Amino acid sequence: FAFGFLILLIILIPIFSLHSSHPSLENLLVLTVATEQTDGFERFMRTAKEFNYTVKVLGLGKEWKGGDVARTVGGGQKVRWLKKELQKYKDRPELVILFVDSYDVIFASSPRELLWKFSRMGHRVVFSAEAFCWPNQKLSSKYPAVKNGKRFLNSGGFIGYAPDIIGIIQQWKQKDNDDDQLFYTNIYLDKVQRNKFNMTLDHHSHIFQNLNGAIEEVVLKFERGRVRVRNVAYDTLPIIIHGNGPTKLQLNYLGNYIPTAWTHDSGCGICDDDLFYLGDVPDEELPIVQVGVFIEQPTPFLEEFLERLVSQSYPTDRLRLFIHNNEVHHEPHIQRFWDRHRRRFPNARIVGPEENLEQAQARTMAVELCREDPTCDYYFSIDADVVLENPDTLRILIEENKQVIAPMLSRHGKLWSNFWGALSPEGFYARSEDYIDIVQGKRVGVWNVPYITQVYLIRGMTLRTRLAQIGLFSQQGQDPDMAFCRIVRDQGIFMFVSNRDVFGHLVSTSSYNISRLHPDMWQIFDNPMDWKEKYIHENYTKIFEDDKNTVEQPCPDVYWFPVLSDRMCDELVETMESYGQWSGGGHKDKRLAGGYENVPTVDIHMNQIDFEKEWLKFLKQYVAPVTEKLYPGYYTEARAVMNFVVRYRPNEQPLLRPHHDSSTFTINIALNNKGKDYQGGGCRFLRYDCRVESPRKGWSFLHPGRLTHYHEGLPTTQGTRYIAVSFVDP
Ligand SMILES: *[C@@H]1O[C@H](CO)[C@@H](O)[C@H](O)[C@H]1NC(C)=O
Ligand SMILES: *[C@@H]1O[C@H](CO)[C@@H](O)[C@H](O)[C@H]1NC(C)=O
Ligand SMILES: *[C@@H]1O[C@H](CO)[C@@H](O)[C@H](O)[C@H]1NC(C)=O
Ligand SMILES: *[C@@H]1O[C@H](CO)[C@@H](O)[C@H](O)[C@H]1NC(C)=O
Repeated sequence: FAFGFLILLIILIPIFSLHSSHPSLENLLVLTVATEQTDGFERFMRTAKEFNYTVKVLGLGKEWKGGDVARTVGGGQKVRWLKKELQKYKDRPELVILFVDSYDVIFASSPRELLWKFSRMGHRVVFSAEAFCWPNQKLSSKYPAVKNGKRFLNSGGFIGYAPDIIGIIQQWKQKDNDDDQLFYTNIYLDKVQRNKFNMTLDHHSHIFQNLNGAIEEVVLKFERGRVRVRNVAYDTLPIIIHGNGPTKLQLNYLGNYIPTAWTHDSGCGICDDDLFYLGDVPDEELPIVQVGVFIEQPTPFLEEFLERLVSQSYPTDRLRLFIHNNEVHHEPHIQRFWDRHRRRFPNARIVGPEENLEQAQARTMAVELCREDPTCDYYFSIDADVVLENPDTLRILIEENKQVIAPMLSRHGKLWSNFWGALSPEGFYARSEDYIDIVQGKRVGVWNVPYITQVYLIRGMTLRTRLAQIGLFSQQGQDPDMAFCRIVRDQGIFMFVSNRDVFGHLVSTSSYNISRLHPDMWQIFDNPMDWKEKYIHENYTKIFEDDKNTVEQPCPDVYWFPVLSDRMCDELVETMESYGQWSGGGHKDKRLAGGYENVPTVDIHMNQIDFEKEWLKFLKQYVAPVTEKLYPGYYTEARAVMNFVVRYRPNEQPLLRPHHDSSTFTINIALNNKGKDYQGGGCRFLRYDCRVESPRKGWSFLHPGRLTHYHEGLPTTQGTRYIAVSFVDP
C-alpha cells in the first residue's frame, strides 16, 4: 500500500503542479520593438512563426530615436512605446507578457515550454542575466551575490505577469535616448521594488541566453534529426537566444540551424516559402542584372571564363555588362570575346589596364552602375577565377531571395572556398565548426556567413537603401573584399552562401606563368578539371563507355582513339614552332642513347620546352587507363623516357624508314589535319602489311614497340605534318 501511494504521489505531483500554476497559451503576449524590417528582424519573425508564437511588433515604420544601442547606451524609446502599449492590458492579471529585442534574437523553443519554465521559476518577473554589469559598472557591488550563474541584469528579454510588468514600466519618465537597461537595473537593485514585483534574474539561462561573455557555454546539440541550443555550463536548454554585444556572428551561426526540425545535415536557409520563383516569368520581364566582371590578375582559362558569361540560362538583353581587366596579357582574350558577342551587350562598359584603376575603384564603378539606375534589380559580381559550371546560377541566386548571396565554390578537391564560416577576433579568417562539412557538401543549405568573396549577387534595392551612402570597397588598409564584407555586416545585412545546388569551382591562379606562349597547357596539376575540359578530346570519355566506335583497330594490335582536343594539338605545335630549335642530324646521339634505334627525326623534346612533367602526368592520367583497358592484365605506370614532337616536311624530313621502337608500347598522336595541313603521311606496319593513311587530328595510335610492330612513317608529300610521340615503359 505504501509503495502504491508513493507511485501515485510521484505521478500526481508533476501533473498537479503543471495544472495549478501553468499559464495557458492564450494568456501569453509577446512584444517586441522594431522600426525596420532588417534581416535580423525577419529571422526573428521566422523563428517565431516556426514555433507558433504570436508577436506584436511596436514601432514598425517609425523613426528610431533611441540612440545607437549597438554601440552606446540608449533604448528609452522602447520603454516609452511599451508603457503606452501596456495600458491596454491593465485589467488582465492572468496575462503573461514576454518582451524581447528582435534584431539580434531568435526563438529556440516553443511557447508551451517557455510558460512551463517560467512557472517553474516561481517568480512573477524574470529578467535575463549576463556576466557584464552594463551600463554602469559601479552598480555591480549592489547586486545580490550569486553562487554560480550570471549575476547582472540584461533588459533584452524579460517575462512576467501583466500587473507587475506594468507596475515596473509605468515608472518610466525619462528621455528616448536614455538607457532602458539602467532603468530596469535601478528598479531591480531597489530591494523594496524587487520584492514588491517579485523579480528575479534568469541566472542559469533556463529561458534567456545572452551570448555576450557566454559563447563558450553555448553549443548546438543534434539529436534525432533535431537541434537544440544547450548551455553546457548550467546544463539548460534556453528558449530565447540573444546575440548581444559583439556576438552577432555567433547568433548568425546558431540561426543557421534554429529554428529547426532540420536534420543534422541541412541549414536553416531552406525556407522554401521565402523563395522568389522565376519559373513563369517571361524572359522580357526577368529582373535586370548589372554584371561586374573583374580580371585583376593573370588567370588561367580566361577565354573559357568569358564564354561562360553568355552561356548562363539568362537572356543577355536582361544583363548589363561591365568588365574591368587589369592585365595586358588578357587583352587579346577580351578582344576576341568582344568581337564575338558585342551585339548582345550594346551598352557594355570595358575598362582596360591602360586606365590604371585600383581594384576598389573598379568595383565601386561597377556597383554604381546598378545603384544609380533605378531599373537595376540586381548587381552580380564575378571574378575571373570563378568557374560557374551551372548555367542556372544566376536564376537560382535570384530565387533564393536574399539581399546578398553567393554560390558556394571551392577549388577542386580542396578546402579553399569563397566564404568564411567564422571570423577571428581581428576580423580575419577563422574556421567554423561546420566549414568543412559545408565545403564538402555534407551539410546542405543556405548559410549566414561573415565573409564571401569572388562571386555574389546583391539586390539593387539594398544598394539604394541600406548601402546607399557608403563606399563599399574602400577602407584604409583593407583589401576590397574584406572592406565590402565588413560594411555589409555593420549594416546588419546578412550575407548568405548557398550549397543547395552545385554551382562550379574556383580556378587556382597561384602558379600561372604568362611568359609561356600558351600558359594554360601547364595547368594540368593546378587546375586539372579545367585542363581536361580544354585539352582532352570531347569523346575521350566514351572509350570507357564501351562505345564501339570510339576505339578502332586499323591493324592487328594497333589501337586508335581520340585523346587530345584540337586546341591542345594547335597549342602544342605553336609552342614547338615558337621554340623553334628543331633537331637536325646534329642531335642524333641523344636519340640513339634513348634507344630510338637508328632513325633520326626532326623533333623537339617535351623537356626542351619544360613540358615533360606535364606530359607525363597526361600520359598517366589519360593514356595509361586506355592501355589497361585495351591490353587487359597489363598494368603501366606510364613511365616514358622519350617524349617529343616530330615534324615531317617534303624537303626536310618527309618519312621515317622501317624501324622498331625500343618501348613496350608507343603512342603516336596526330597534331594536325591531313588534306588541310599536309598531303601524304601515315604509317605502315610491315609485318601485317597494314597501312593507316589518314591519321585524324587529336587521335592517338597505340601499338607495341619491340618485335612485332616493325613500322615506317610514310612520306609527307606536301605541307607540314606534326605528330607527338612517346615511348612508354622502355
Ligand atoms: C504550429 O501550429 C501548427 C498549426 O496550428 C501546427 O501544425 C504545428 O505543429 C505547430 N508547431 C509547433 C512547433 O508547435
Ligand atoms: C515570489 O512569488 C512566489 C510565488 O508567487 C513566492 O513563492 C515567493 O515567495 C515570492 N518571492 C518573493 C521574494 O516575494
Ligand atoms: C616561366 O616561363 C618561362 C618561359 O617559358 C621560363 O623561362 C621560366 O622559368 C618560367 N618560370 C617559372 C617560375 O616556372
Ligand atoms: C564526338 O562524337 C560525336 C558523335 O560520334 C561526333 O559527332 C563529334 O564530331 C565528335 N567530336 C569530335 C571533336 O570529333
